Amino acid sequence: MSVAPTKSISASTRLGAVFGRPIRHSASPAMQNAGIASLGLDWMYAACDVSPDVLKVALEGARAMRWIGVNLTVPHKLLAVPFMDLLDDSAQRWGAVNTVVFEAEDDEGLWRPLGQIRDLGGPLRMRGYNTDADAIVRAIREDLAIEPRGARVLLLGAGGAGRTAALRLADEGVGELWLVNRTPSKAEALARELEERFPAVHIGLGYPASDVEIVLNATSLGLKPGDPLPVDASQFSLGKAFTAYDMVYRPSQTPFLQAAQAAGCRVANGLGMLLYQGAAALELWSGRPAPVEAMKTALIQEVYGQRA
Ligand code: ATR
Repeated sequence: MSVAPTKSISASTRLGAVFGRPIRHSASPAMQNAGIASLGLDWMYAACDVSPDVLKVALEGARAMRWIGVNLTVPHKLLAVPFMDLLDDSAQRWGAVNTVVFEAEDDEGLWRPLGQIRDLGGPLRMRGYNTDADAIVRAIREDLAIEPRGARVLLLGAGGAGRTAALRLADEGVGELWLVNRTPSKAEALARELEERFPAVHIGLGYPASDVEIVLNATSLGLKPGDPLPVDASQFSLGKAFTAYDMVYRPSQTPFLQAAQAAGCRVANGLGMLLYQGAAALELWSGRPAPVEAMKTALIQEVYGQRA
């Protein structure tokens, strides 16, 4: 791993961070600090190990210290919703918050992201956004080169990430969405919610008999060495899928992706999703287009080392 030049931090450097638990594996600081440097901002982005029982205190602390913003990862995305002063449409629609923007009143009394204005020291409010959902669709389009609209999709996992993916893909107009989860009741509850909100999408429980354009792993299986595959090979052959996406990006080649590739699928790991949600967050804080290439380079170097 290369050592990045030390950024100079001064009394005027403004702060942001990702809160999660576990968090020490996070590639977000490398990615965001590269983006921040590329934009020439005097900001610093860290990673904080925050347990769910102190999430509210941690968010209030960030507000009290007048941070620019915060990202939230496992297990905070649902828990944070009631702590926000305002929810953006994205957070309301997908029911989860992964990006918090601290807002203040500018010279004209308009509420604006603190990162985009001179800090006058007045009260701050917390607005919650969801940048994950759009990142899923963008990653499928750009990294798998496939159009989700009308596609048959097999979704593995109905936890937080699986639910966001299911809702966003249904909103994108997929043709069929098949749900598989270790705990069937969660998949059933998600199926009911999808049927109510997106009556045009065919929702199936369990494995489809037909081919699918996309099989998407939204479970945590693959993160740990020795994890079983998220798909039951006796019930669904990966040869029946055209493409496979794994939200896991560490390791970069999960057993699921290896098996899918061996079965002839076009594959991509979750690095793109991480990149696109992070780029969207930086745009919300800064009000400027994110330097996606610089962020991607830093991310690849952080995750894959010099091999990238
Ligand atoms: P996230 O926010 O990352 O989605 P989560 O809500 O805890 O985290 O969801 C984890 C997903 O991985 C769930 O679909 C979970 O299945 P359950 O709903 O049955 O818990 C799935 N998962 C985790 N460990 C698993 C395992 N050993 N076998 C199968 N599925 C597993």
